[in-house]
Amino acid sequence: MTPSKIRQTMFKPSGPLSGKVRVPGDKSISHRALILSALAVGKSRIEGLLEGEDVLATAEALRSMGVTIDKNDDVWTVNGVGVGGLMQPETALEMGNSGTSTRLLMGLIAAHDISATFVGDASLSKRPMGRVIDPLSEMGADITARQTSDHKACLPLTVRGICPAVPLDYHLPVPSAQVKSAILFAGLNTPGITRVIEPVPTRDHSETMLKGFGADISTETDKDGIRTISVTGEADLSPQKIKVPGDPSSAAFPVVAALLVPGSDVIVENVGINPTRAGLFAVLQKMGGDIQLKKKRTVGGEPVADIHVRHSALNGIDVPADIAPTMIDEFPILFVAAALANGRTTTSGLHELRVKESDRLTQMAEGLAILGVDVTEKDDGLIINGSGGKALSVTQKKVTIKTALDHRIAMSFAIAGLVTKGGAPVDDMNPVETSFPGFENLLTELAAK
Ligand code: S3P
Repeated sequence: MTPSKIRQTMFKPSGPLSGKVRVPGDKSISHRALILSALAVGKSRIEGLLEGEDVLATAEALRSMGVTIDKNDDVWTVNGVGVGGLMQPETALEMGNSGTSTRLLMGLIAAHDISATFVGDASLSKRPMGRVIDPLSEMGADITARQTSDHKACLPLTVRGICPAVPLDYHLPVPSAQVKSAILFAGLNTPGITRVIEPVPTRDHSETMLKGFGADISTETDKDGIRTISVTGEADLSPQKIKVPGDPSSAAFPVVAALLVPGSDVIVENVGINPTRAGLFAVLQKMGGDIQLKKKRTVGGEPVADIHVRHSALNGIDVPADIAPTMIDEFPILFVAAALANGRTTTSGLHELRVKESDRLTQMAEGLAILGVDVTEKDDGLIINGSGGKALSVTQKKVTIKTALDHRIAMSFAIAGLVTKGGAPVDDMNPVETSFPGFENLLTELAAK
């Protein structure tokens, strides 16, 4: 990926937003659609694939391991090589900004008789990889990673896979769908049964899609809500036709924009509302947001709806820590909603936000403070005293809001800018290309109607 020129942008106050829009395909589902299609024998077709940089990094890595991937008339076709059929890549895998590509592909390679070096941008190179290295090493892979001064294992790293690997029963120490999926994908090419035990449910797209491709996979939930996911190895996967729904994590931005900008009335069509992802919409409804999920249906095994949202006066809320995994990527934009709400919003249990594309607690606290918001940063969350609907305004001269190579920070402050007096100066909008190509055009379209 070639670094692009910094794109500083001022997001100005907006008039009412209205109209019907669609957001790009779900990022998590798009990665998984490419990966599982690559492991099936024969040709899969994918519609609605997110063509953001993160997903394209996964596609490119799979190509370099012998998978043929093409696009014709908006339909992607993947000629899978079968479980165990990946070939030795000749060069390092360029992961750009994408933690999901890195962790999922590490799982895949760990149980193949090949090795691969993973490299990424400055943000990805700071993110902890020990959480995937530990279980994959227990399965027999040999992984060497750069050690940081604070003893974190980070990119660049090299995975030397092993075949056959050893099946594993693994209790997730952090609620992470990426770690869960890495282990399940390694388990696909491992004799016997690989089990992942998750204390808190995380997004279950891998399980749903593995079932769809014909893998022998089951989930049991005990009386305490602890889930055990078991996959039988040496699987045969059959090619599929996949429709990727719109990404709820992307829909979150126009939804919050419509809630905050007076007079707005917006429909975001075809959005995934899997309960392991849709926590933000429930929290916004509890805050008083007029959000209706309409035309609920199932697309490719995933629940989908059209989201109708109207401007609403929001009230502050105490967000319970246990809801965090169902909206883990949505906290930055929730903090913006909280900044305009009436009263106090508290959040907790959000340590994971510190190891996303940026330290999202610090970046959001600093950016909101620039916009004059009363915000306190705690170790595991933010406390925000909202303006009660009063427009925000920049409190310091000649500052820009730092996005730190993080697409969701950039988009959150773009939305905040719509409800300011003089605008929000965002230091770089390039990161948005990782997950939401067309984001700014969509905002322009909503404001023009
Ligand atoms: C993802 C899981 C989440 C999320 C990320 C995508 C996935 O990360 O933050 O954007 O596709 O599995 P964790 O698994 O680290 O929570």
